[in-house]
Amino acid sequence: DSHVPHTFVIFGASGDLAKKKIYPTLWWLFRDNLLPKPTNFCGYARSKLSIEELRTKCHPYMKVQPHEQAKYEEFWQCHAYAAGGYDKRSDFVALNEQLERLENHSNSNRIFYLALPPSVFEQVTVNIKEICLSQRGWSRVIIEKPFGRDDVTSKKLSDHLASLFHEEQLYRIDHYLGKEMVQNLMTIRFANKILNSTWNRENIASVLITFKEPFGTQGRGGYFDEFGIIRDVMQNHLLQILSLVAMEKPTSCQPDDIRDEKVKVLKSIPALTLDDMVLGQYVGNPEGEGEAREGYLDDPTVSNDSNTPTFAQGVLRINNERWEGVPFILRCGKALNERKAVVRIQYRDVPGDIFEGNSKRNELVIRVQPGEALYFKMMTKSPGITFDMEETELDLTYEHRYKDSYLPDAYERLILDVFCGSQMHFVRSDELHEAWRIFTPVLHEIENTKVKPIPYVFGTRGPKEADQKTSENNFKYYGSYKWHGKK
Ligand code: BG6
Repeated sequence: DSHVPHTFVIFGASGDLAKKKIYPTLWWLFRDNLLPKPTNFCGYARSKLSIEELRTKCHPYMKVQPHEQAKYEEFWQCHAYAAGGYDKRSDFVALNEQLERLENHSNSNRIFYLALPPSVFEQVTVNIKEICLSQRGWSRVIIEKPFGRDDVTSKKLSDHLASLFHEEQLYRIDHYLGKEMVQNLMTIRFANKILNSTWNRENIASVLITFKEPFGTQGRGGYFDEFGIIRDVMQNHLLQILSLVAMEKPTSCQPDDIRDEKVKVLKSIPALTLDDMVLGQYVGNPEGEGEAREGYLDDPTVSNDSNTPTFAQGVLRINNERWEGVPFILRCGKALNERKAVVRIQYRDVPGDIFEGNSKRNELVIRVQPGEALYFKMMTKSPGITFDMEETELDLTYEHRYKDSYLPDAYERLILDVFCGSQMHFVRSDELHEAWRIFTPVLHEIENTKVKPIPYVFGTRGPKEADQKTSENNFKYYGSYKWHGKK
C-alpha cells in the first residue's frame, strides 16, 4: 500500500531512546526512500519543544552527509510535535486533531511508537485506543522492554494490551531480532543439509551464547539497578537467539509458523535454578582509565549495597528429543574485556581417536557483532612435510566476502517491518510468557535471598567461576585458537 499515507507517532519524543535511535532510524529510512509516501511524523512528550529544538537534540545522532542536506530539510518538513500529559484525555484529543491536520484529513495508517517508561504504558495505550486510532486505515503499536519485571507483572501488561489491541497490532521490539546474523540463523540451519543434519545431541556437545560489553552503566545505573543484566539482556536478547538456534524447523517461513516453533522449544526448557547460575558485579580497576576506575557501586544512581548483577551466566536444558543432555549456556556482562556477541556451537570429540588426543573440537561460530562472520573451526594437517595438525577455519567474514553490501541497523529493519506488517522479528505474547516462566523463579530467589554477586574487575573476562561452570557443562575452552578477522 505504498500510496496510502502513513503517520508515525513517537511518544517520549524528547527522551533518550527517541533522539538516539528512533529519529535517526526514521531519517535513514526516509533518506533511502524506503518509507511509503507520504509518511508524516509527530512527536509527543511532556516538555514543550519546537521542531527546531527537537532537531537540535537529535542532530548528533543523525549522521547527515553534506550531500544529503536538501533531503534532510525535506525530512524535517514532514514533522509535527505536540506537548501534553500522558494521562490527560484532552491532550490526546488535541494530539488527534493535530494528526488529522498533518494527514490532511486523509485515511492515513498510523504507527504509535512508545519510547516511554513502563509507568505510563497503561495510560498512554488506553488514550491511543480511545482517541487516536486511525479511523479508516490500520493502527499499529510498537513497544520496547521492559515488558514487566516478572511473570505476574508481564502478564498484567499483556492482558492490558490484549484488552485494547489485537496481537496483530502489537509489535514488541527485541532489537537483537533485527541483527543480520540473528536473522541469518534460519537460513544457516534450514538451507544447509550439512549443518541441518548434525544439529542435534548426537553431534553437538554444548552451545554457548555470549554477550559482552566493555563499558559499565554509563549513567544508566538508575534504570539498570532496578532490572539487572538478566532482565536487561539474558531473558530477552540471549533467549531469543537460543530459541532460533534450538527450535525445530517451522512448517513455513510465515511469522506465526516461526513463532509457534520458538514457543514450542521454550516450553521444553525447565525454569532456571540458582545452581545453574553464576552472578557477578564489576568493581573499579585502580589501574584503569576513565570509567574503568569506577565500580558499579560507585555509580551515584546505584545504592551502595546493591546486589544487582552486571554479569550473569545461566545453563539452560532443553528436554526434547533433539537436545536432551546438551547444555545451552547463556553468558552476558557489562564492563568486560571486549564488545562481542557470538554463538558457539561446539561439536563433540571425534570418537575412536587416532591422533593421540591432539585434535580439538569443531566449532561453528556465528559472530553477531562487531564484524559479522560465520566461521567453522576445524582441524587440518599443517601444510608442508609434516604430519602435525593444527586448528584452522572455513571463514565467511562479511567484510571480505560481501565488501560492498550495506547492513542496515537493527532498528531500520524492524521499523520497516512494522510499515510492512511483518511480525516475524517481533516477540509474540506467548513467547514472552514462556521467557518469564523460565526466569522468574531464579530472579525472585536472587532478590529474596539477597544473593551476593561475585566481584570482577572492570575490563576482565568476568568471574572465573563462570569458566569453571562452562567446562563442567561440556564446553571445552582451549585458549589456543585465535580468530584473525576484524576486531
Ligand atoms: C539493550 C540493553 O537492550 O541492549 C543495553 O538495555 C545494551 O544495556 C544493549 O547495552 C546492547 O545492544 P547492542 O545492539 O549495542 O548490542
